[in-house]
Amino acid sequence: MVSRVIPVDPFDLVIFGATGDLARRKILPGLFHRFMVGQVPGTARIIGAARSEYDQQAFRDMVRDNLTEFATKAAKQTELVEQFLDMIVYVRVDATGNDGWSDLAAALRSDVVRAFYLSVTPSLFGAIGAKLHANDIATPDSRIVVEKPFGHDLETARALNADLRRNFEENQIYRIDHYLGKETVQNLMALRFANSLWEPLWNSTHIDHVQITVAESLGVEGRGEYYDRSGAMRDMVQNHLMQLLCLTAMEPPSKFEPNSVRDEKVKVIEALEPVDLADIVRGQYRDRDGDGSYRDHAGNPNSRTESFVAMKVKIGNWRWAGTPFYLRTGKKLRGRSSEIAVVFRDPPHMIFPKMEGRRGNALIIHLQPDEGITLRNTIKEPGPGGMRLAEVTLDMTFADALDQHAEPQDAYERLIMDVIRGDQTLFMRGDEVEAAWAWADPIITGWEDARLTPAGYDPGGSGPEDALMLLHREGRRWREIG
Ligand code: BG6
Repeated sequence: MVSRVIPVDPFDLVIFGATGDLARRKILPGLFHRFMVGQVPGTARIIGAARSEYDQQAFRDMVRDNLTEFATKAAKQTELVEQFLDMIVYVRVDATGNDGWSDLAAALRSDVVRAFYLSVTPSLFGAIGAKLHANDIATPDSRIVVEKPFGHDLETARALNADLRRNFEENQIYRIDHYLGKETVQNLMALRFANSLWEPLWNSTHIDHVQITVAESLGVEGRGEYYDRSGAMRDMVQNHLMQLLCLTAMEPPSKFEPNSVRDEKVKVIEALEPVDLADIVRGQYRDRDGDGSYRDHAGNPNSRTESFVAMKVKIGNWRWAGTPFYLRTGKKLRGRSSEIAVVFRDPPHMIFPKMEGRRGNALIIHLQPDEGITLRNTIKEPGPGGMRLAEVTLDMTFADALDQHAEPQDAYERLIMDVIRGDQTLFMRGDEVEAAWAWADPIITGWEDARLTPAGYDPGGSGPEDALMLLHREGRRWREIG
């Protein structure tokens, strides 16, 4: 199946922090990929803005090097790379001072979509917004794009929202959670709301529990300092896992429109019940093979930050009362694998002999890698010997089903195109971010006040033993990671 590419309108995209890691790894390669397939028109202009001294040529040379390194599809497309580089200009701008703003204003056109990507530390959001206004660079239609970490807690998130809203309307602000740009995360909505099969079963009458796992095999790599101030709860649960939970649990929106979808997600977050400390397991990876422990990587020998968290979450509403959602995420686990497993209740009355190890019906949505779905069914074990039951799976990877083995589109590519199109559906609204912090804050302060030390776990496994117990004690079990 060949996917259709609809070009976006011409645009001027200003990237503040254009020499930073995110711009080099994700934003610029993403734009190049979209240019390659004809979605970004040749009339678009990408304006790199940063404090470093670069002349045009030096900046373009740097982008060329980045593309060679990070845009995997770029290597053999030298002609296209040169065309893409022609669309790029560099303006030296001092975010907090006065230098460069008139040059930036002069680099922009008045008749195209205008977007500002703030790939800078959040403490600069307010200052840059104010400068964009003071220099008449921001128009009422301009879009502003920001990234996580969106606050460290509710108070800081509110302050950031206030900084942004001082200069922009909510419908101009695009808060990225890159999980929402992943193909299968959107597929979750298609699966639920474009099929009639699941919706009648999608409630606590039929669903025993839901497991949401985002496992990573890597450690904190070079980000130890940032990570040690965040931990898995702030880095993953408050945002990425929360989004997965919302899309799994929300009511069908009346329209596939930004505010209809986001209204329903906020309702889920607001319905979350406070989490008991006894329903949370925090872990920290040890050193097993000389690769270093979490504490080594974080550069903090006494760190109490968690690199793993598992918890039982309850949604206090009519649809989900009695169906727990188990969330789990961690670094240095057995594999990189993210999935949502919806586990159905057993039939009310079983007429067949008891089956050892029976796990029951489940719909597993594989987010990455190998995006697809698996449906676990019980059948009769073939052959003689009476009525013995066996469990089999119906497996479908989307790549096979749609014959699309091309390199998948990166989440950033999709999200940046949505910014240009002016579609906020896959971006977090301010109240959504605040609601997620309002839920996470008491959990974090609860364990900080209790001065709890995370349980150690060995790399390459499935986290601390206690995380398994979280389900075992209720007669359930996690799916294997990887
Ligand atoms: C980021 C976190 O937001 O998401 C990282 O800060 C994490 O710690 C990453 O590794 C995971 O993203 P992905 O797309 O690789 O699953």
